[in-house]
Amino acid sequence: MAYRNLREYLNALEKSDNLIQVEEKLSPVLEIPEFLRQVMLRKGPAVLFNNVKGHPGWRVAGNLFGSLDRIKLALGLERLEEAGWRLVGNLWRKPPYTLTEKIKAVKLLTGLESYLPSETGVAAFKDIVVEGRDVNLYSLPAFKTWPGDGGRYFTFAQTVTVNPSTGSASIGVYRLMIKSPRELVIHWQMHKRGRLNYLESSGREGMPVAVVIGGDPAFMLTGAMPVPHPMDKYLFAGALAGRGVRVYILPNGVPVPSGAEVVLEGYVSPERTSGEGPFGDHWGYYDKPTHGFPVMEVERVWMRESPIFVGTIVGRPPLEDAWIGKAVERVFLPIIRTVIPEIVEVNFPVYGVFQGLMIVSVRKTFPGQGKKVINALWGVGQTSLTKIIVVVDEDIDPHNIDQVIWAVSSNVNPQRDVLVLRDAHTDHLDPSARVPGIGGKLGLDATRKFREENDCRDWPEEVRQDPLVEEAMKRLVEKLLGGEVSGRV
Ligand SMILES: Cc1cc2nc3c(=O)[nH]c(=O)nc-3n(C[C@H](O)[C@H](O)[C@H](O)COP(=O)(O)O)c2cc1C
Repeated sequence: MAYRNLREYLNALEKSDNLIQVEEKLSPVLEIPEFLRQVMLRKGPAVLFNNVKGHPGWRVAGNLFGSLDRIKLALGLERLEEAGWRLVGNLWRKPPYTLTEKIKAVKLLTGLESYLPSETGVAAFKDIVVEGRDVNLYSLPAFKTWPGDGGRYFTFAQTVTVNPSTGSASIGVYRLMIKSPRELVIHWQMHKRGRLNYLESSGREGMPVAVVIGGDPAFMLTGAMPVPHPMDKYLFAGALAGRGVRVYILPNGVPVPSGAEVVLEGYVSPERTSGEGPFGDHWGYYDKPTHGFPVMEVERVWMRESPIFVGTIVGRPPLEDAWIGKAVERVFLPIIRTVIPEIVEVNFPVYGVFQGLMIVSVRKTFPGQGKKVINALWGVGQTSLTKIIVVVDEDIDPHNIDQVIWAVSSNVNPQRDVLVLRDAHTDHLDPSARVPGIGGKLGLDATRKFREENDCRDWPEEVRQDPLVEEAMKRLVEKLLGGEVSGRV
């Protein structure tokens, strides 16, 4: 069962030995982030810091989603793909033709309605409200992760905006830098939904924004999910949780989860922008300070009693965001397969920095299909940011790097199977890009080739032993040497 708020989830983590509580007084400046990094590098548990230096009354939680098992626990799912199937499963079913089939299918064909958000007037974060000049963002235990970071950051807060034309909500995990006691700089990248809403609202008074800390784990994770632009992200969060999120509508009109720990309510002005950074990011390098990010003016801070702040850290992998990326991979597999149906399996390797490397296997039925898939992935959603894409045949498991190396080494002809894009749309933070957001891309088509792709020559037949001889010799070797025969990739 998915949890309704952070505290319920923390209890579940504690009961399942997935949480440690730290009583030592540690600072959110370098100390807590480095403690979390050390835990993440050991694939350790979630952490609750009960004494935060310089921030009496606050607690800090981190590494909440630092393994796939923890993310499954948070969402009450055995297989994360299930969440994706909840959204697109009906598109893969034969439609009912007869009346009896139709009656039987009613429950299957509907279903989205149970994931819809519902409004409530009750909210845990109404315990404490600080307004106007009393707002001081420096009183929150925002992190400074790396010595060279340009300020104090909210590293795992969800920024909620509403599209001015459609009214659908966006929820994004974007880092937020404290600029002054009542101002945050929002680092939404150029293609992200928060920025798109901001562009649509330009010319108006200012766009209402809420920054949320804590809340339903499904809501928190949805902030990092690349949900296609028109779809309401609360509806997506509901599909992730298997039930709708309860939302409270703030006075500025932005819906926020009623179970949130802290909510910052305010506006982003259409005119004001600011410099941001430097910040040590998930590629393992400092981002250079960049201009042009919008400024949120915080008018009101809402908090639960003894609020729990949530933070994460990014840097060279594998840290918590690598596992969140893996969850994105699993949840979106059914959705990617609906858009590009020849795709069988997908791997964003943990050390590939999510936007760095993607390996996909395909069921190849026509010549040129490997390159077609690379181009399709570079053309949709956030896979368009991926720098290197490797495509293999369906008998190769993209998660088995040895198998992938065999396919790349034996099937790729560098004169024929390498796609290089120059000056393409790429991750804004990619340290190798020529200018932020514009860089090179590499596609490797490591599939076996049809005659038409191979100078009209048949692809060589792969060596295979006579199955009876293979089985008999395998058993004999196991008898004489013991153990299982391994080594074949
Ligand atoms: C820990 C963490 C930090 C992130 N920081 C940023 C960021 O600063 N800016 C950004 O645009 N995306 C950032 N992302 C990625 C976005 O959360 C992700 O692209 C998500 O799809 C954004 O939501 P949107 O597609 O609705 O805009 C971060 C993700 C994680 C897990």
